[in-house]
Amino acid sequence: MWLFIILCAIGRIVSAEPVEEKKILINFIQSISHSRVINWDMRSSACVNWIGITCNHDSSTIIALRLPAFSLHGPIPTNTLSQLSGLQILSLRSNGLTGRIPSDFSNLRNLTALYLQSNAFYGPLPLNFSNWDNLSILDLSNNAFNGTIPPSISTLTHLTALNLANNSFSGQIPYLSLPSLQLLDLSNNNLTGPVPQSLERFPASAFAGNNLSTLTSPTSQPVKKSTHLPEPAILGIVIGGCALAFVLVALIMIAWHSKERPQVEEKVTRLRSGSQNVNGNGSLVFFEGSSLAFDLEDLFRASAEVLGKGTFGTTYKAALEDASTVVVKRLKEVGAAKRDFEVQMEVVGNVRHQNVVPLRAYYYSKDEKLTVYDYFPQGSVSSMLHAKRDDKNRSPLDWDSRLRIAIGAARGVAYIHTQNGGKLVHGNIKASNIFLNPQRYGCVSDLGLTAVMTPLTPPVMRIGGYRAPEVADTRKVYQASDVYSFGVVLLELLTGKSATHATGGEEVVHLVRWVHSVVREEWTAEVFDVELLKYPNIEEEMVEMLQIGMQCVARSPEQRPKMADVVRLIEDIRRTGASTPTTDQVVASPLVAQPMGSSIVAM
Ligand SMILES: *[C@@H]1O[C@H](CO)[C@@H](O)[C@H](O)[C@H]1NC(C)=O
Ligand SMILES: *[C@@H]1O[C@H](CO)[C@@H](O)[C@H](O)[C@H]1NC(C)=O
Ligand SMILES: *[C@@H]1O[C@H](CO)[C@@H](O)[C@H](O)[C@H]1NC(C)=O
Ligand SMILES: *[C@@H]1O[C@H](CO)[C@@H](O)[C@H](O)[C@H]1NC(C)=O
Ligand SMILES: *[C@@H]1O[C@H](CO)[C@@H](O)[C@H](O)[C@H]1NC(C)=O
Ligand SMILES: *[C@@H]1O[C@H](CO)[C@@H](O)[C@H](O)[C@H]1NC(C)=O
Ligand SMILES: *[C@@H]1O[C@H](CO)[C@@H](O)[C@H](O)[C@H]1NC(C)=O
Repeated sequence: MWLFIILCAIGRIVSAEPVEEKKILINFIQSISHSRVINWDMRSSACVNWIGITCNHDSSTIIALRLPAFSLHGPIPTNTLSQLSGLQILSLRSNGLTGRIPSDFSNLRNLTALYLQSNAFYGPLPLNFSNWDNLSILDLSNNAFNGTIPPSISTLTHLTALNLANNSFSGQIPYLSLPSLQLLDLSNNNLTGPVPQSLERFPASAFAGNNLSTLTSPTSQPVKKSTHLPEPAILGIVIGGCALAFVLVALIMIAWHSKERPQVEEKVTRLRSGSQNVNGNGSLVFFEGSSLAFDLEDLFRASAEVLGKGTFGTTYKAALEDASTVVVKRLKEVGAAKRDFEVQMEVVGNVRHQNVVPLRAYYYSKDEKLTVYDYFPQGSVSSMLHAKRDDKNRSPLDWDSRLRIAIGAARGVAYIHTQNGGKLVHGNIKASNIFLNPQRYGCVSDLGLTAVMTPLTPPVMRIGGYRAPEVADTRKVYQASDVYSFGVVLLELLTGKSATHATGGEEVVHLVRWVHSVVREEWTAEVFDVELLKYPNIEEEMVEMLQIGMQCVARSPEQRPKMADVVRLIEDIRRTGASTPTTDQVVASPLVAQPMGSSIVAM
C-alpha cells in the first residue's frame, strides 16, 4: 500500500486540495458518532493521507468516500455528504447508520455506486432516482427500508446491480425496464403481486422470501410473437460476434504455427507408437520427490490426449499403464544446446514450493524434447475464468477463490525469484499456466521454459497480451517482466476479461490498455467482472487489488514493485481490510494463514 501512496504523493505534491470538500467532511464526521479512529485533519492532505478518500487525477474534487465498518452510528446529517457533488462512489456499508437516506442525496449526480447495505436505515426511499443517471450499482440490502419500490428506479439506464434484499419493501414490484441490469436481488421483503415481465429473466432466488403470486401465468398472459429479437438473442449475437473475432485470431495463430508443421494431430494419439525404438541419445531424467514410476517406453506408449497447443509446443495428458496421469509437454523450437537445456532443467526441477507446479522429469534427444508435470483435472485458471460463460453448469469463480489464486501464484513467483541466487525468472506467467493446488491456492507452471526456446518474434509475442513492453527477446526476460505479466493476471481475475479480447469491431484490445482507458478518468466500479458483483462487501478489496495490478503493469520496469512486495500487498488486502468480521470473513481467514505444507502433494 505504501508504494501506491508514495506514487500518488509524488503525483500530487504540487497539486491543490479540495479545501471546501475537506471542511464538509470534517463537519460530517464531527456530527456523527464513530468509535474507530478516522485520521481526518484539515492540516493534512485529504487526497493523500485521509482514510477512505479518493480524489480525481488533479485533486480538485473527491470522487470516492469509503468508510465500511467504521462503527458510524446515527443518522447521516443533511447538508453534508450531499455537497460532495463530484462523488462517484459512496460506501458506508456495515455501519450502524440509521434514519432515512437524506433527500438531498439526489444532488450527487455523478454517483456510479452507492453501498449502504448492512445498516439500520428505515423508512421509504424518498429519492427521485431520475437524477442519478450514472448510477451503476445500488446496494441497500440488509436495512429496514419499507414502503414501495419507487418506479423511478427505471430511469437508471446504466444500472447493472440492484440489491434491495432483506428489507421490508411492500406492494407490487414496479415495471422496471433496466436493460443493463445483470444482478437483481429483491429477496426477503414483503412484496406482493406478479413479477413484471421485464424481470422474468432473473432467477427465482432474486424474488424468494416474498409473497408473490405465481411467477409466470402463461394462460392469462398469452405470449405474443415478437418481431424484435428477444434480449438473450441480441446478447447471443454480441457474444457470437466476439467469439468470431476470437476464432479469427486463433485461426491466424494456427495458420502461423502450421507453416512448419502442416499435419493435424488427432485428439487422442500416442506420443509415439510403441514399436518404435526410442533410444536416441537421451534418457528420461526424474527429479527428487517424484513418485512416478515409468520409463520412456511407458510414456511413449501411453494414450495421450491433446490438452492444448501453445507457443512452445503441444501439451498432452498422458494416461500411463499404472493408471497415473501426467502432463507431457512436447517442446518444439528448443534453441538451447543439450548442456544448457540440462543446466536450466536442473535449476527448474529443484524448485519445490507448494505454489509452483513441480517439474517431474524431462527428456532431451536430438528429435524430441519433453517435460513432464503433474496433471490438474480442473484445468487452468484461464479455463475457469473464461470457459463458456453462458454455460449454466459452470460455477463462476467467487472472490475468495480469486484472492486465493492471486495470493498463491504471487507466493510461487516470489519464491521462484529467490532461486538460483535470486536470478531465476519464470518468463511465461499467464492465466493458462496457473492451476489450483490441493488447498485451492494458485500454483504456477511452465517455469523457466522460455529461456531454452528460440526467441519468439514480435507478432506472436504480442498476441498473448502478457508480455511486458520492454521485452524484445523472449530469452532475455527479467523479474520485473514477470511482475508485469503477473499484474495482467490480476487484472484478468478482477475484470473476468482475457489478456487480449476482441471488442465489437475486429480490433483486439489488450487488457492493460482497456483497464487504463476505463480508470484513466477516475476509479470506477465498471472494470470489475459482473460475476463478482453478487458477492457482498468486497468492493474495497477489489479496488485494492486493482491498485496492485496497476502498479505491476507500470510501463517502466523500475516503477513496478518486487514480487515479494506484491505478496505482502495482496496479503494486506484481507489483513487490514476494513471488513466486518462476518461469518464469511471467518471462513476466508485462512487466506493469510495458509499452512506451510512441507511436502508437495502429487495429484
Ligand atoms: C461529474 O463528472 C463529469 C464527467 O467526469 C465531470 O465533468 C463533472 O465535473 C463532474 N461533476 C462534478 C460536480 O464534479
Ligand atoms: C425528478 O427530478 C427531475 C430532474 O431534476 C425532474 O425533472 C422531475 O420532475 C423530478 N420528479 C419528481 C417526481 O419529483
Ligand atoms: C454521467 O453521465 C453523463 C451523461 O451520460 C456523462 O456525460 C458524464 O460523464 C457521466 N459522469 C461520470 C462521472 O461518469
Ligand atoms: C415504515 O416504517 C415506519 C416505522 O419505521 C412506519 O411508521 C411506517 O408506517 C412504515 N410504512 C409502511 C408503508 O409500511
Ligand atoms: C439476507 O439475510 C439472510 C439471512 O440473514 C442472509 O443469508 C442473506 O445473505 C441476506 N441477503 C443479502 C443479499 O445480504
Ligand atoms: C407484510 O405485509 C403484511 C400485509 O400488508 C403485514 O401484515 C405484515 O406485517 C408485513 N410484514 C412485514 C415484515 O413488514
Ligand atoms: C400473501 O398474499 C395473499 C394475497 O395477496 C394473502 O391472502 C396472504 O395472506 C398473504 N400471505 C402472507 C403470509 O402475507
